[in-house]
Amino acid sequence: MNDSLEAFQKEQRKTPYLDALISYAKDKVVPFHVPGHKQGRGIHPKLKEWIGESYLSLDLTEVPGLDNLSQPKEALLQAMELAAKAYGADYTFFLVNGSSSGVHSMIMAACNPGDKILIPRNAHKSVFAGLIFSGAVPVYMKPEFDYALQMDHTITEETLVENLKEHPDSKAALLVSPTYYGVAANLERLVSIIHDSGKIALVDEAWGPHFHFHPDLPVSAVDAKADLVVNSTHKLLSSLTQTSMLHLNGNRVDRARVESCLRLFTTTSPNCLLLASIDACRMQMATQGKELLDKAISLAEKARAEIRDLPGVQCIGREIVGNPGVYALDPTRMVISLRSLGLTGYEVDERLRSKGGVQIELSDLFHVVALITISDSEKEVDQLVNGIKQILKIPNQESKGFLEKKGARLPDWPPLKLSPRDAFVSQHETVPLEKADGRVSTELITTYPPGIPAIAPGEEFTQDILDYLRLEQEAGSRITGVADSTLQTVRVVKG
Ligand SMILES: Cc1ncc(COP(=O)(O)O)c(C=O)c1O
Repeated sequence: MNDSLEAFQKEQRKTPYLDALISYAKDKVVPFHVPGHKQGRGIHPKLKEWIGESYLSLDLTEVPGLDNLSQPKEALLQAMELAAKAYGADYTFFLVNGSSSGVHSMIMAACNPGDKILIPRNAHKSVFAGLIFSGAVPVYMKPEFDYALQMDHTITEETLVENLKEHPDSKAALLVSPTYYGVAANLERLVSIIHDSGKIALVDEAWGPHFHFHPDLPVSAVDAKADLVVNSTHKLLSSLTQTSMLHLNGNRVDRARVESCLRLFTTTSPNCLLLASIDACRMQMATQGKELLDKAISLAEKARAEIRDLPGVQCIGREIVGNPGVYALDPTRMVISLRSLGLTGYEVDERLRSKGGVQIELSDLFHVVALITISDSEKEVDQLVNGIKQILKIPNQESKGFLEKKGARLPDWPPLKLSPRDAFVSQHETVPLEKADGRVSTELITTYPPGIPAIAPGEEFTQDILDYLRLEQEAGSRITGVADSTLQTVRVVKG
């Protein structure tokens, strides 16, 4: 190990914030502060039995010694500085309100009301919320659609250049890479195109917090020099649920502005245990990330080979790299399809749970997605493969035959008629779904996961979208964002 790497590793073994939190708990100071359960004393025994006293002793919010998330100066600042060094960013901010709060903040930091921002239409709903909060006006870019897989990939260089040419007045471009399905864009190239045209590059890299730590994974957005990058450490690494990071590079976006936006979207009572878990997660990845990811990648590759050997089962692999919109692939993402056997992703999801004792991350009409992370071992991964084998034993006629019956496919994106904010704050009227063709939505209607809106505020319902929503509903998808959860009616701009 060379001297600078050794010094880096030595520094990265520190966990200043986790240490501060443990030290506060050890001091046994008598708490006359929130939370009301007073480090577990008042919590109901039924819950205490499950989560344990040591966990509860750390369930604290900001008190002296535990710094302040809205203006960090002590242990939390040190932890964030270590995270910035670990990821190679200029600054890193810890998030406890999910990656969503990072996405909202980066859009709001980059754009004022009326500013144009280029966005791939297959973005997560948090991006659309960011548009509503900021008042920015989107130019939706068309991601590459893979007809064979029935899946959107990323934006190509050509699409980006075309949109930048058509909208020279845009302020920023937001990229989503990788997609929920693990498909990554050529970020180095795309970010440099955005910068060369004088715009701000934002990247929603919620699904790539591990990329920086392994050479066989796609290039990370921070390494590609994007200005602001969101990483969901809770999704694929080991920090607790709701925790994420927002990284800042360079000075195209004002750091103080980012901080004030973060304050708008962050609780004033951040859970210190969540923050400490980000500190521990960073230490783990900076000191052991490569080895941990070696294991995850090889487990995933082995499972992929076994799954692909099963009759009628598809599992996406490196063969799609080079297809339009597929620059690189995260091998730890297992995108599996049994559609050639007539099964929807929802049916596979349900059967894996009931017959295989396995719960996957995502199902859509055509696929299921299983995540293999640094936490998995051969035992769990074998259970996934065995779960699929169990499904194959079920006679085909038990399938509802949904895909064949409907000739299912994803719809074309609906046309944009109003800015998301203007539509969201408009007077609305409620109309039957079947009568909504040609009307402008005030709602963000999303199948969840993956959380990509079928229609966003400001977009016009088309017959294609209406048919698709009904199809998703019948197939058993979880549709969110509608006032009427039965989807009999939708809210549209009045008049
Ligand atoms: C691409 C993408 N960005 C952002 C988010 C929001 O993440 P969180 O649930 O941590 O708020 C998600 C959630 O699934 C996502 O898929």
